[in-house]
This record gives sequence, structure tokens and C-alpha cells, in this order.
Amino acid sequence: MSHKPKSCRTAALPRSEFRTKATEYMDFLAAWLQKPRQTASVVPSSRYLARLMVAQIDPQDGGRVLELGGGTGVFTRAILETGLPPEKLEVVEINPAFARGLRRHFPHVSVLETPAQIVSTATAGEPGDYQVVVSGLPLLAMDRTLHIDILGEAFRMLRPGGSFIQFTYSMRPPVNRAILDQLGLDVVRAGQTVRNFPPATVFRFFRKGEQD
Ligand SMILES: C[S@@+](CC[C@H](N)C(=O)[O-])C[C@H]1O[C@@H](n2cnc3c(N)ncnc32)[C@H](O)[C@@H]1O
Repeated sequence: MSHKPKSCRTAALPRSEFRTKATEYMDFLAAWLQKPRQTASVVPSSRYLARLMVAQIDPQDGGRVLELGGGTGVFTRAILETGLPPEKLEVVEINPAFARGLRRHFPHVSVLETPAQIVSTATAGEPGDYQVVVSGLPLLAMDRTLHIDILGEAFRMLRPGGSFIQFTYSMRPPVNRAILDQLGLDVVRAGQTVRNFPPATVFRFFRKGEQD
């Protein structure tokens, strides 16, 4: 029986990782060319940003996690790396090509092709079952009505004390104060990274009076 030399076997791994990354980047660029406002970025988020986005998740506490705007799955991977069981995660993605890719890469995770603004019509969990919502949605490209609908849906599903985590390419929260007051929400900056293109800030939204 012939064996490949060890150096050949180890050298194959980075190349396949490179191919996966290159495919992710091409898929993202193609999605952006088709629907620039919906995709809102020409490249996927970095793993450094992904780590900031999942820092609130407690994999042991039994609560479910909802990811909005899964794209090519950078945050999905980081959520699963926290140790959260895959059956506790649902990923929402309205681009059918991205949804197909997410199902292929994460076969044990439920992928919902439902718009985030009506996601409660499709979730497996009930209102109050969710500990964290991780959002990669392009809120800056969305209008006031969508902000109200998306945050309203997310907080319908989040339990008391639950957090909505959102990144943005601006230093300021992507939702204005009047909308937060209308929904009884507050927001704090949860992190920032320059190791992303473009550099990004992470915000945590929560119900007023619950945390600061
Ligand atoms: C900026 S990309 C982020 C993708 C990925 N989370 C990342 O960080 O690389 C935004 C994603 O949200 C999806 N999206 C946009 N509007 C949506 C909506 N209303 N409901 C669900 N997904 C949406 C887009 O198709 C796209 O995949």
C-alpha cells in the first residue's frame, strides 16, 4: 500500500481553506453585484468581528440563538464555535444562493428564507425562548419602518434580559434614538475592530431598565 508523504498531506489543508475562502469572497461579490443594498458589503465579515458578535452567547444556558442575515456563514461558524448545540441555532437569510450555501456548510442548523422583519412567523422557538439575536443585517441601508419591524420581531422572540447584537461600519448606532424610545430599548457599544473591512463597531441593544 502506498502512502502520501506527510508533507503533502499537511500542505493540502491550507490550500483547501484558501479555496473555501476564495469561493466565499466570489459568492459575496456576486451577491453584492446583483443586490448591492441587500448585501451591503463586497466582502464577508472577518473572524475577528465574528468573535465580538458572539461574545454574549452562553452555550450552556439552554436559550436559543437567532442569526439574522447569515450571508456565507462567518457568524454562524463563530456561534457554533462557542459550543452552542446546532439545534439551538436558526439562521435567517433571504438570498436563496446564500441560504443554499448555509444549508450545505451547516447541515444541522435550521436556515429560514424568511425576511427578518417577519421572522416570528417561521421560527421553531416560541417568544421568550431566545437568549441572543446576532444580526448581520445592513441596517444602515434600511429605512425607519424596517428598523421598527426588525427590532420589534427580535425583541418579541428575546427573553427578558436578552440582547440584540448588531455591527455597523459607523461609530454610531445604526438605529436612531426616537425609534429606540418608541420600542422601549437602549443601546451600548460592545466592541470595535479594525481587523475587518471596513473597520466595524458592535452594538448591543436591550430592553430599557434591564441592563446597562
Ligand atoms: C452585510 S451582509 C452580512 C453577511 C454575514 N453575516 C457577514 O457578516 O459576512 C447582509 C446579509 O443580510 C441579508 N439580508 C438583507 N436583508 C435581509 C432581510 N430583510 N432578511 C433576511 N436577510 C437579509 C443579505 O442577503 C446578506 O446576506
